[in-house]
Amino acid sequence: MRGRLQQLLRRTKRNLAEFKELGGYSEIYKYSIEKNDEFWEKLARSRLLWEKDFTEVSDSSFKDGRISWFADGQLNVFDNCVTRHLADRGDQAALIYEKDEPGNEEIVTYAQLHSLVNRFANVLKSKGVKKGDRVAIYYPVSPLGVAAMLACAKIGAIHSVVFAGFSADALRQRIIDADCRVVICADGTYRGGRYINLKSVVDEAIENLDLVETVLVGTRNAEAKKLTTEKDVDLDLALAAAPENCLSEPMNAEDPLFLLYTSGSTGKPKGLVHSQAGYLLYAAVTTSAVFDCEPGDRFGCVADIGWITGHTYTVYGPLANGATSLLFESIPSYPDPGRYWATVDKHKLTQFYGAPTAYRSLLRHGDEFIEKYDRSSLKRIGSVGEPINTEAWEWLHHKVGSSKVPIADTWWQTETGGNMITPVPCDAGASFKPGSAQRPFYGIEPVLKNADGNTVQGNSVDGALCIAKPWPGIARTIHGDHERFRNVYLNVFDDVYTTGDGAHRDQDGEYTITGRMDDVINVSGHRLGTAEIEDCLTQLDFISEAAVIGIPEATKGEVPYAFVILKEGVEENSEHKLLANKHVAKVIAKFAVPKDTIIVSGLPKTRSGKIMRRILRKLASSEAKDFAQIAPELGDISTLAEPEVVEEIFLKKCQS
Ligand code: WT7
Repeated sequence: MRGRLQQLLRRTKRNLAEFKELGGYSEIYKYSIEKNDEFWEKLARSRLLWEKDFTEVSDSSFKDGRISWFADGQLNVFDNCVTRHLADRGDQAALIYEKDEPGNEEIVTYAQLHSLVNRFANVLKSKGVKKGDRVAIYYPVSPLGVAAMLACAKIGAIHSVVFAGFSADALRQRIIDADCRVVICADGTYRGGRYINLKSVVDEAIENLDLVETVLVGTRNAEAKKLTTEKDVDLDLALAAAPENCLSEPMNAEDPLFLLYTSGSTGKPKGLVHSQAGYLLYAAVTTSAVFDCEPGDRFGCVADIGWITGHTYTVYGPLANGATSLLFESIPSYPDPGRYWATVDKHKLTQFYGAPTAYRSLLRHGDEFIEKYDRSSLKRIGSVGEPINTEAWEWLHHKVGSSKVPIADTWWQTETGGNMITPVPCDAGASFKPGSAQRPFYGIEPVLKNADGNTVQGNSVDGALCIAKPWPGIARTIHGDHERFRNVYLNVFDDVYTTGDGAHRDQDGEYTITGRMDDVINVSGHRLGTAEIEDCLTQLDFISEAAVIGIPEATKGEVPYAFVILKEGVEENSEHKLLANKHVAKVIAKFAVPKDTIIVSGLPKTRSGKIMRRILRKLASSEAKDFAQIAPELGDISTLAEPEVVEEIFLKKCQS
């Protein structure tokens, strides 16, 4: 699997120009760790525009739950991403909006984006939004969705983008948790030729929710757009009427820039809080160094703005670097599996950044969908969200990238703000190992911990992946629950940030992510807590207990799979499964619906009552038709409280 590929790849031009006198990756990395504050201080001054200079670089202690960078400095993120480019590149495209229907793109220049965001900021102010207020954004990838985020940044409001694929219940929960008085949405969006109504989801989410005072509704399809309640405001009319002038709010470096919800292994989703200056710096520097992104580049990150990848590599990173950012509304297969490469060709994209699940779905189709299009503009292809399998890696590198384009397999998390482990930037001749994220980014110091909390030394070892030093891009807290933040990330082991992933450090000292060590699963790069799905299933009046696990799936990477026990006296019927699926789609999202739900009379538990998920995973993913075939793989089950349930579960699964 992990065959070593020696590739002669061209030198990374912008391997952080500030430090080029030091040498290549290894020398700069060494300096970034040894002189950590000096390293980030230099970059903070050369890459960001400060309203008020900072005197303190960092004051952080994982032990004390304190993370702070450039604390007495002030800046404005919008001015850093847009205003400062006006003089040199006001007429350059800031955004290319590649809509679902091919051939329908729209270009927004930096000057136009500046004007749009200023008007948007004035609209928000007119609705009473002030610095520090939270604003919910339920918007598809589009210029207005991006402008909504930037308008918040401009006036110091904290945006909370909720992926426009989450259900009304999930949106409501996030609006309440962040206490949002204003919601921004579009009437809908198109995906693969299909119209998806978003406004109706918002209506349902805020029904009888007095907290929400205003819903700003933008237009995707004017005919479908319906303003239904007295809270609704037509965003287009409001923008047209709003003044163009608006002062940017000088923000303290450590003020929150945004909240973004993500799933954990237990409890409700966590609203991770990212900072103004540290986050922006980390977004800007990683975009520049990992993707060799220069001003004027055309950066194609196809992630939705509802995820961290969209925040960092569709919005903040490319704009902070003066690049043109692609906003991709569509799906990889529409109108045919050549859509990505047609988009690369049409806009002469210099970077393309997507997810393994999409790449896997495309490689099954013929090469003609690639070869038809000119991809010679590409200098980087990125992959994110889950490990990339060798087949997809080779396909990207050799087919899409004509064996010339380095693949940036980027390991990182919502919590980390930006890329953490990735083979690029690299020096000429560096080796690539398909399926391995390989090397830490500058300033990032991975450590592996064993179960006792001791640091694992040496190479060819495994452990829980942790990060030893604070870096500017790390999330600062969980909205409203700093204790949870400390417990989940900072107090698992002493003095390190715990990622939740396991990793292998190979013979060369490089890292391969081995997957989550907690009950979090990854469906098409979307993170889900199995506990969340279990909670949702047990809300149904006919289910008493549920166990959800993730099992491997060829395209999506993983899919949820459920085992449920019915309540006493409930007779099993064919409706149960449908009702369960419907409920998960309603409460969480369609992508959270289990691939199958098996009704069983018991679950494999230890005598202390802990569900043995390992056994469920084996049973669910097995192709075996006969219990005797699978029994040897299950290990010793005699220690279970009720060993006999295992065979019963197997038989039920075979029947379903
Ligand atoms: C989890 C984070 C970071 C943006 C997208 C997902 C897994 C992510 C990789 C990769 C192996 C990866 C990890 C991580 N993951 N990228 N390149 N190789 N695993 O963000 O929803 O916060 O999920 O995704 O398990 O912990 P997220």
